[in-house]
Amino acid sequence: MDGTMVGTDYQILELKPYNPSIGATVGNIDLTRPLRDQEIAELKAAFTEYQVLFFRDQKISHNDHARLAGYFGTIGQHVGKKTNSQESDDPRVRKFYASGDVPRVSGNLWHTDQSCAPVPPMASILYLHTIPDNGGGDTGYASMYAAYDALSDRMKAHLEGLTAVHEGKHQFGEGTPDAVHPVVVRHPVSGRKLLYVNPAFTIKINDVSYEESEALLKFLYAHCLQEEWTTRFKWAPHSIAFWDNRCVWHRAIGDYLPQVRSGFRVQIEGESPPVMA
Ligand code: SIN
Repeated sequence: MDGTMVGTDYQILELKPYNPSIGATVGNIDLTRPLRDQEIAELKAAFTEYQVLFFRDQKISHNDHARLAGYFGTIGQHVGKKTNSQESDDPRVRKFYASGDVPRVSGNLWHTDQSCAPVPPMASILYLHTIPDNGGGDTGYASMYAAYDALSDRMKAHLEGLTAVHEGKHQFGEGTPDAVHPVVVRHPVSGRKLLYVNPAFTIKINDVSYEESEALLKFLYAHCLQEEWTTRFKWAPHSIAFWDNRCVWHRAIGDYLPQVRSGFRVQIEGESPPVMA
């Protein structure tokens, strides 16, 4: 299946690529109102095609936030323990807040959200209303499709069929799940292959020696972070980033403290474990 949908005829939404390999800014949309069927269909096509969608000037409520998520799936919960900085007055919505008084920058390393779960989240929608005014607080994104595509055929053949352990407790504490996922997986909607290991959770490639696993992961992590398939989203107040957690790495860049960066995130549950079908 080739589900990349390049060339989709967007009749309503205005899609502007953010980077040749990943990301698009979505214009002519108002997320404070329910969307029409055609808008939802185009949004889903764009999500598959561009992997991460960016929106500007969308002053959304928690209900607006949850409604957008609901077009794509069921709202889920983080697998880790809650901290004070993660509570909001709405159980569907996780608060994001960092400042000089609360200097914990969540997600400050490259990762796939909660890949330690047997079925990791499908996607996350981050809305920020307060942005540091020193130019910091970007979010980095990397396309795991492009990283996979750029590997040599010999390396692709070597990785095919390998699995890796994704550990949660070193990130979120005891009681967080672990999972084993294939190193190369196929996206359930686009049908494209991608690399599915990440520095935050993947601790070991199975069925090879410790030394081989370490060397391979070190190579893959450096490869995945090449400039050609990474980008940085520069936030403004009331921007939104909506990423496909099944094919994208991301990281918060914690360069803005003691300034305040704040908003809310909704997570959409995954529907199936990552597989190499
Ligand atoms: C995250 O969701 O991992 C953090 C993203 C961000 O705050 O930029």
